[in-house]
Amino acid sequence: MGVITTKGLTKKFGELTAVDNLDLDIKEGEIFGLLGPNGAGKTTIISMLATLLDPTSGTATVANQDILKKPSKVREHIGIVFQDPSSDDILTGRENLYLHGLMYGVPRSIIPQRIDDAFDLIQLTGREDDLVKTYSGGMRRRLELARGLLHHPEVLFLDEPTLGLDPQTRKRIWEHIEKIVKERKVTIILTTHYMEEADRLCDRLAIIDNGKIVALDTPNALKAQVGGDTVQMEVSEPEKAAKELEKLDCVSRCEARENRLDIAVKDVAQNLPKVFAAAGEISNFSVRNTTLDDVFMHYTGYDIRDEGAEGAAKHMQRVVGIKK
Ligand SMILES: Nc1ncnc2c1ncn2[C@@H]1O[C@H](COP(=O)(O)OP(=O)(O)O)[C@@H](O)[C@H]1O
Ligand SMILES: [Mg+2]
Repeated sequence: MGVITTKGLTKKFGELTAVDNLDLDIKEGEIFGLLGPNGAGKTTIISMLATLLDPTSGTATVANQDILKKPSKVREHIGIVFQDPSSDDILTGRENLYLHGLMYGVPRSIIPQRIDDAFDLIQLTGREDDLVKTYSGGMRRRLELARGLLHHPEVLFLDEPTLGLDPQTRKRIWEHIEKIVKERKVTIILTTHYMEEADRLCDRLAIIDNGKIVALDTPNALKAQVGGDTVQMEVSEPEKAAKELEKLDCVSRCEARENRLDIAVKDVAQNLPKVFAAAGEISNFSVRNTTLDDVFMHYTGYDIRDEGAEGAAKHMQRVVGIKK
C-alpha cells in the first residue's frame, strides 16, 4: 500500500462536486503531481488529505493513518505549504520557524539546530533575523518550504509552490524542491497548473479536470499517449485540410483554431512530406516536441491556460479534428 491512498474521495459544495470519487495510490518517496486548471479541485484534494476539510464521502489514508479516524496522527506526519503566503510578515524568518516548531511539538532544545539546517537548505543563511516583510516573494516561498519540513514530516504537500513567481524565481524553487527530495526522505504531493513544473518535477502525475482524474502516469508516458510530436501550420482552408489530414495513418490528432492546425504526427521526420501534401496551401509551419499541454488538450479538449468550463465551451466551437 502506498504512503497515500484515497478511496472514492469526494467533496461536494452544495450542488458542485469539487472532487469526484478520487482513487489514488501514491508511493513512498515519489513526487506526485496534481495538474489541472483553476477550479479543477486540487486545493480541495490537498485540504482533505491534510485533514483541514472533511470529505462528503469516501476516505483516505496518509502515512498509514486514516484521515477520518486519526486526523491528529495524520497531522503529525505531514507538512504543508499553502497556495497563498502563510508566513507572518511582522515576524522574522527565525521567529516564524520557531513558532512552527513549538506548534508541532519539536523539542525546544533541538529547534535552533533545525532552524539553522532549514536556512541552510533554502540558502537563506544570514537572513534569519530579518522581518519576513523584507523578503522577496521567492524568499518567502523558500521560507515556507523550510517551515513545512521543520518537524521532519513523511509527506509534504505543496499547493501551487510557484504561483505568481517570475520564471527565474520559479526555477530556483524547483531546484530547492529537487534538493529536498534528494536530501530528505519525504514524499511530495504538489499541485500546479504549470505544465513545465509538472514535467520537470513529478515522477508521476494525475491530470485533474472538474474534480476527476482524466489521466495518470509518468510525464513521459503521458506524452507518448498523445501520439507523436506536434506540427503546427497555418493553412488557407483549415476544415478541408483537417479532413484530408485525418485520413493519414501517421496523423493521430488534428485540431483547428481559426486558420492554425495542430497536428499530432507519428515519426514526424519521415512523414512530414505526406502531411504537407495533405494540408493544401501552407503559409507557416513549425514542429515541436509534445508537451503536457498537448496531453491536457488531448484528454480534456481544451487548453489548460483557458479557464475551465469557458475553455471547454470555446473548444466546442473550434474543434474540427477527430481523435483516433
Ligand atoms: N469553500 C468552498 N465553498 C464553495 N465552493 C468551493 C469552496 N472551495 C472550493 N470551491 C469550489 O470548488 C472547486 C474546486 O476548487 P479548488 O479545489 O480551489 O480548485 P483548484 O485548487 O484546482 O484551483 C471550484 O469550483 C471552487 O470554486
Ligand atoms: Mg488551488
